[in-house]
Amino acid sequence: MVQVIDGKQIAASVIDKVKAASAELQARNGVRTGLAVIIVGDDPASHTYVGAKSRMAKDCGFNSVQYTLSTETSQEELAALVTTLNADESIHGILVQLPLPKHLSSEAIIQSILPEKDVDGLNVVNVGKLAIGDMETGLVSCTPAGAMLLIRRKHGEDLSGLTAVVIGRSNLFGKPMAQLLLNANATVTVAHSRTNNLPHVCRGADILIAAVGRPEMVKADWVKRGATVIDVGINRIDAPERGKGKTRLVGDVAFAEVSEVSESITPVPGGVGPMTIAMLMANTVIAAHRTVGRALKIF
Ligand code: GUN
Repeated sequence: MVQVIDGKQIAASVIDKVKAASAELQARNGVRTGLAVIIVGDDPASHTYVGAKSRMAKDCGFNSVQYTLSTETSQEELAALVTTLNADESIHGILVQLPLPKHLSSEAIIQSILPEKDVDGLNVVNVGKLAIGDMETGLVSCTPAGAMLLIRRKHGEDLSGLTAVVIGRSNLFGKPMAQLLLNANATVTVAHSRTNNLPHVCRGADILIAAVGRPEMVKADWVKRGATVIDVGINRIDAPERGKGKTRLVGDVAFAEVSEVSESITPVPGGVGPMTIAMLMANTVIAAHRTVGRALKIF
């Protein structure tokens, strides 16, 4: 019987620790954890994600500030806001929701966020720390950090001898995911759209992680019997069976058929998704603790 990994429950356990840590920081040091989330434009999915992040930050007792900027915002205006937030002592974490409208350079904006406030873990300083295995002073991108926590709950801290295949090579997910797995001693392959015979590569994985953005691409015959499957995709597809014009969310993995082969699998929704928000909260309270010279370990 397949084990469906309950991301909501594991995320809730992270959030409990975040709440305790933020209350403690307030009580001991009089510091209220602050998170600023910036969204530019009117992409509905991005607004949904950002709303959830801001609400969760409030729920954690943070000073949660959301900047909702129009699509016409210029590079200079956005850069000026980041500069202001960098200098604001009440803000410990800054997140600029991606993607930005096409006329804006996201790379320049991301790199302008102070590394110690870069709760998305995308600044080159944090990327570099992860690459050299420094897990103590940097911040790790939230979705891979969340996926890694699910993997550790299943396989423990040490993945020696296990093969992991990550499908997808983005800066936001695939690359940091591969680094986390490597730091935990897994034997890691990063597969992508130019990989030959992708099903064959995937069949070699004890741990298979899909982050491609293609609905239900990973089929049962891509998966080794007994594998752990982590589905990072969130795709909205038509669902005429639910009525005219209705849609539903699916991952990058064909859940029903892959469940017949894998030992454990994350569902969509309710798997990696809730973990992303939980890890953002964790990164923010970790960043806040560091400002008073305290190293906080949440996961
Ligand atoms: N867009 C989709 N996922 C993310 C994320 O983790 N961080 C940011 N900043 N934007 C995103």
